[in-house]
Amino acid sequence: MKVLMIGAGNMGLTYSEGMVKSPLLNRKKIMIHDLSEGILAKLRKRSEFDVYEHLEDCLPKADVIFLGVKPYHADELMQKMKSMMHTQQIVVSLMAGVTIAHIKSGLEINKVVRTMPNLPAKVGKGVTSYTESIDVSRIELLMIRNLLDTTGVSIRVKNEEFINKSTGISGSGPAYVFYFMQSMLEAAQKMGFTVHDSKILVSTTFEGAIELFNKSDLTPSSWMDKVASKGGTTRAALDYMDDNNVEELIKEAAFAAFNRAVELGEG
Ligand SMILES: NC(=O)c1ccc[n+]([C@@H]2O[C@H](COP(=O)([O-])OP(=O)(O)OC[C@H]3O[C@@H](n4cnc5c(N)ncnc54)[C@H](OP(=O)(O)O)[C@@H]3O)[C@@H](O)[C@H]2O)c1
Repeated sequence: MKVLMIGAGNMGLTYSEGMVKSPLLNRKKIMIHDLSEGILAKLRKRSEFDVYEHLEDCLPKADVIFLGVKPYHADELMQKMKSMMHTQQIVVSLMAGVTIAHIKSGLEINKVVRTMPNLPAKVGKGVTSYTESIDVSRIELLMIRNLLDTTGVSIRVKNEEFINKSTGISGSGPAYVFYFMQSMLEAAQKMGFTVHDSKILVSTTFEGAIELFNKSDLTPSSWMDKVASKGGTTRAALDYMDDNNVEELIKEAAFAAFNRAVELGEG
């Protein structure tokens, strides 16, 4: 199987770096095409990739084509690709908001998988949600799933609405966690901790809490009850958040991202 990545910026390169490790590729190199001279020059130094400046030299050879460009470059790119595509090729889109129907009609093909990646894929801890057009076979989908799993885990969702929903949870989610971390870092520094110590206090607290959560059957809410005794310090913080509606605001924020993903898809 030959895999081509078009657009090797943040996400495209992250997924390419994961996928080269896939046994499915049978040590074949990943083909990469990008327009940025800087990116091409850097990638040419790496033995695991075959780097192409021109689409016509790589696109016809590919069985699976990943689209890693920004959504606003999609139409221009598909216009260039269209005449070189053949119907057995599978296109996997990493692009937010671009629908399967739009890709099918833009490329005049039928096999499309749409994904929602997330940033921790960079460290092999990503979660990619995906859904597919009706013409993608079970075996083809299994193959795509294996490729996606090289960057962490993946979940198949039942339709594109759930791709937009996963944008609100996992796609944009790392930024919510960073938001919380930033507030705690600033609080620690305001209390007088050094930048170095604040970082250790905050990052270890996040890591520890997540490990506790992952290694037990307790819900986050049960964990909160376990650590917050009546009249104690943790309860004081949680009560303050509850009194200020923080929980509801976080839920509303996730819905704001979901709604924006829907809007971008319509635009
Ligand atoms: N970053 C995230 O956290 C995240 C999360 C979820 C989904 N996504 C999705 O991932 C996709 C990629 O985002 P990114 O942040 O990785 O973008 P990026 O860093 O800007 O990378 C895109 C690359 O594609 C190149 N490119 C543009 N037009 C091209 C064309 N016609 N042919 C070949 N290469 C072309 C760009 O070159 P130039 O710079 O020269 O234009 C750039 O090197 C987006 O569609 C986004 O919606 C990203």
